[in-house]
Amino acid sequence: MYLNKVFSRNLVRHSYISLKRFSTTSKRNHSVCVIGADGGIGSMLSLLLKLKPDLVTDIRMHDIRESVNGVAMDLSHINRSGTVRGYTGRSQLKKALKGADIVVISGGISKVAVMTRENLFIENASIMEEFARVCAEMCSEALIDIVTNPVNSCVPVFCETMRKLGTFNPTKVIGVTTLDLMRISTFIASMKGLDPRKVTCPVVGGHSLLTMVPLLSQCNPPINFSEDETVELFNKVRIAGEEVVRAKAGNGAAQIAMAYSLAYFIFDQLKAKRGKADVVQCGYVANNAHKTKYFATKLLLGTDGIIKDLGLGKLSSFEQEKIYEAIPIILRDVDTAERFIR
Ligand code: LMR
Repeated sequence: MYLNKVFSRNLVRHSYISLKRFSTTSKRNHSVCVIGADGGIGSMLSLLLKLKPDLVTDIRMHDIRESVNGVAMDLSHINRSGTVRGYTGRSQLKKALKGADIVVISGGISKVAVMTRENLFIENASIMEEFARVCAEMCSEALIDIVTNPVNSCVPVFCETMRKLGTFNPTKVIGVTTLDLMRISTFIASMKGLDPRKVTCPVVGGHSLLTMVPLLSQCNPPINFSEDETVELFNKVRIAGEEVVRAKAGNGAAQIAMAYSLAYFIFDQLKAKRGKADVVQCGYVANNAHKTKYFATKLLLGTDGIIKDLGLGKLSSFEQEKIYEAIPIILRDVDTAERFIR
C-alpha cells in the first residue's frame, strides 16, 4: 500500500472501520474493464492485472481499434487463472462495462510532441463525455479510475456528465495521480541515497505543471530538505511527464511507469474492497475544500470507494504557497470542463 506508512498517524482515528465486517461481506471475484486497452498504458496495465489472479479474476479489454481482440487473446495465453476478453468499437463498449467492479479510463489522445496536457482537452473531453454516458447506463456502481489527460479537466467532464444524468457518486470517481507519487519517491530516494520502495510522499493539488504539489514535509521516513533540494524536487516531479515526451521524440508520452502506478493503485482499491483497513492513496476528486470543486487530496479507501477525504494535512509554508498558486489554475481547468458540459 503506497501511502500507508505516511499516514498511519492520521489513520488511528479511523480505527472504527471494522475489518471483520468488510471481509465477511466483500466478494472475491473482481472484474476490471480497461478502456484504451490496445494502447501502451492499457495493454501493459492489463498484463500487470493478469499477473494478480488473486485480486483480478476478469479482465475486459476495450478499445476503439479492433486489434484489441488480438491483444486480449495474446494476454489470455499467459498461464494464470481468470478470464480475459477483448471488446471493440462503440457497439461493444456497453457489454465490456456491464457489471465491472472497476473501470479504468486510459483512452483518448496522448501527447506526441512538446505540448501541455491542456492542449489535449478538446479531443479528450468529448471522449470522456461519451464514456461517462455509457458508464452511467451500464455500471453506475463501479469504481472509475481516470488517467486521460488533462486529468484536471477530464475528471470534471466525466463527473459533471454523470451528475447531469443523476448517477454521479463522488466516492467512486478518481483521477489517478499515483504516477506523481511514484516519481517523487524515486527522485527523493535517488537524491538521498535511499531505497525508493521505502520512501513515500503524498502529492496533492492536480496533475499538471503548476498544480502538482509534493508534500515533502510529510515524507516517510521524515527527511530534511534544503531550500535548493526542495525547489529541485518540485521542478523534477512537475516536468517529469514532459521530459518523457521529449525523450520519446514524437513517440508518445509515459506508458510503462503510468501502467505500473495504475496497477498499484487498483490493487490497493481491490484490497480495500476486500476489507483491508487503512488503505490511503492520493487522487484528484470532486471536493470543495479549496473552493475549486475538484482537488487531489489524501483519500482513505474502503469497500465501496472513498470512505473519507483526509485533506492535505499540515503543510510547510512553501507547500502552502504552492497550493495557493495551484488553486486559480485548477479553478480555470474545472471551469473549462464546466463550460464544455454546458
Ligand atoms: C505523465 O505525467 O507522464 C502523463 O500525464 C503524460 C503526459 O502527458 O505528461
